[in-house]
Amino acid sequence: MCGIIGYIGSRQATPILIGGLRKLEYRGYDSAGVSVIDPASGGPSRVIRCRGKLANLEEKLTREPAAGTVGIGHTRWATHGRPSDENSHPHKAGPISVIHNGIIENHLALRAELVTAGAKFSSETDTEIFAHLVEHALIAGAPDLTTAVRRSLAKVHGSFAFVVMSDKEPGVLVAAKNSSPLVVGLGDGENYVASDVTAILAETRKVIFMEEGEMVTVTRDGVTITDFEGNARTREPKMITWSAVQAEKGGYKHYMLKEIHEQPRAVADTLVGRINLEADDVSLDGIELDVSKIKRIIFIACGTSYHASMVGEHLVEAMARIPTEVDLASEFRYRDPILGPGDLVVAVSQSGETLDTMEAIREAKRKGAQVFAISNVIEASIPRLADYAFYTHAGPEIGVASTKAFTTQLIAITLLAIHLGRRTGTLSKERARELLGELVALPNKMRDIVESGAQIQAIARRYGNANGFLFLGRGSQYPIALEGALKLKEISYIHAEGYAAGEMKHGPIALIDEHLPVVVLVPRGPSYEKTVSNLAEVRARQGKVIAIATRGDNEIGGHSDEVIVIPDTALELQPILTVLPMQLLSYYVADFKGTDIDQPRNLAKSVSVE
Ligand code: F6R
Repeated sequence: MCGIIGYIGSRQATPILIGGLRKLEYRGYDSAGVSVIDPASGGPSRVIRCRGKLANLEEKLTREPAAGTVGIGHTRWATHGRPSDENSHPHKAGPISVIHNGIIENHLALRAELVTAGAKFSSETDTEIFAHLVEHALIAGAPDLTTAVRRSLAKVHGSFAFVVMSDKEPGVLVAAKNSSPLVVGLGDGENYVASDVTAILAETRKVIFMEEGEMVTVTRDGVTITDFEGNARTREPKMITWSAVQAEKGGYKHYMLKEIHEQPRAVADTLVGRINLEADDVSLDGIELDVSKIKRIIFIACGTSYHASMVGEHLVEAMARIPTEVDLASEFRYRDPILGPGDLVVAVSQSGETLDTMEAIREAKRKGAQVFAISNVIEASIPRLADYAFYTHAGPEIGVASTKAFTTQLIAITLLAIHLGRRTGTLSKERARELLGELVALPNKMRDIVESGAQIQAIARRYGNANGFLFLGRGSQYPIALEGALKLKEISYIHAEGYAAGEMKHGPIALIDEHLPVVVLVPRGPSYEKTVSNLAEVRARQGKVIAIATRGDNEIGGHSDEVIVIPDTALELQPILTVLPMQLLSYYVADFKGTDIDQPRNLAKSVSVE
């Protein structure tokens, strides 16, 4: 997830680009850059870019100014290639400058073709490929930049929003969209493109939201929209009435709600390039784990990442049949754990900076274990400390309560489990094929749930005045019960307990009366009947039951006060769906209570203290 902006007009482009990038820095912040051209002088574009926050770029621009009235700017959140000056956008190939948000799935094959055709690459990014494709299309005879971009688009697969500029045609910007956001801003004798309205709101409120499979040629005086085949598309501009703050949240009331809704897209991004349907296998970005040397797996993590790890224990044991344990990173090193070279420690962390997890990794490495890190932030301390780093690509998460970071961790862990299971031989080709098919279908099923927020909002209002909540689940739904309770506690400040449903009778049953809402995770599966019995025990004591069940379960309504349904999926993937109603319920209860949802009291996004 990166921020992109383009300007074409009669004013100096650089201050407008920087103003826009400042608004986009929340989308990515590991490097930034601009490419600016002065059509009057006809000179080549000047690319200024550097690693680090936008302030570094601003400082560099004071030393190396970029003058001109046409330009593109980018703030990066690394996906392919570590954050560095060379990997920062814009990328140049001959006269072509390109910025990009998204992932080009077939980048390796295209890179190889371009190298054979003589292209020289100066970065590790997938984006640079597009600059070379456009340059080659022009060399091969494309009459103008728009045609060259169109011909290049036919070669790339994946999610993208591109903005392309050419030194040879400085009077146009060409942009294209597939799955990544892109908006065109209309001014008077000047126009804009951006990944987000926020970036251009200070300049114009008249915008056109681009749709999937569309490209646009932007000049000072107008815009021409077509599909990727060149057929004209017409659309009326919209006037944006959102405040700047609302726009940053994409029109959602809070970042958390926006991030809940981003999950189908985020999960699709985690899967990009990692599923091999022909081989019934997954690729861990080139990492090959030697299963003959792994005697035991130990997940270490904190908070929400710990809950993802608990699901991981179920997945790895079920698919790879390797003994697996889960440990709280904050406890791990204080008990002098028995570890050695046969152990693979899987450290899970969205921020990649949690000190407890880092210290646990150091302890594991001291004792000779191998460390596999799952992180959302590229080149953060935890992936750098580990022997292997695997990224979730969820994009920056602003809300303190983890949502999309969690579901993408579950995807990354599922991929790891499939990788191991295929190599130990305990996961058959047939089951792997079924699981991969289900993974591909998952984003649409997730969309189905996040879009049913109105029902959950109504439930949240009915129970939002309760003094406490209980969450119950069995098997891999137990960690989701813990996660549901954690989410509710941290943003609504209502006390909540997560319990393994079978444990209820050993204590928490004493809490149950007519005032206690009990959320029961009861999707179809081997524990279904047993969980329904627990649910009946709650109802027998007048507890209020909110059941999370599989669509088509006609029985559950008879045992529950409320039923929230999820689509059917493979048993292994159910936690990725059942957690979504947990997130929405917590969100709407907190919203009902009016708490500070994005920055709950006493919490921080990155916990770098012990
Ligand atoms: C809760 C939450 C925290 C984090 C925990 C670990 O919503 O986000 O519980 O999961 O602080 O952080 P990371 O994953 O960055 O190591």
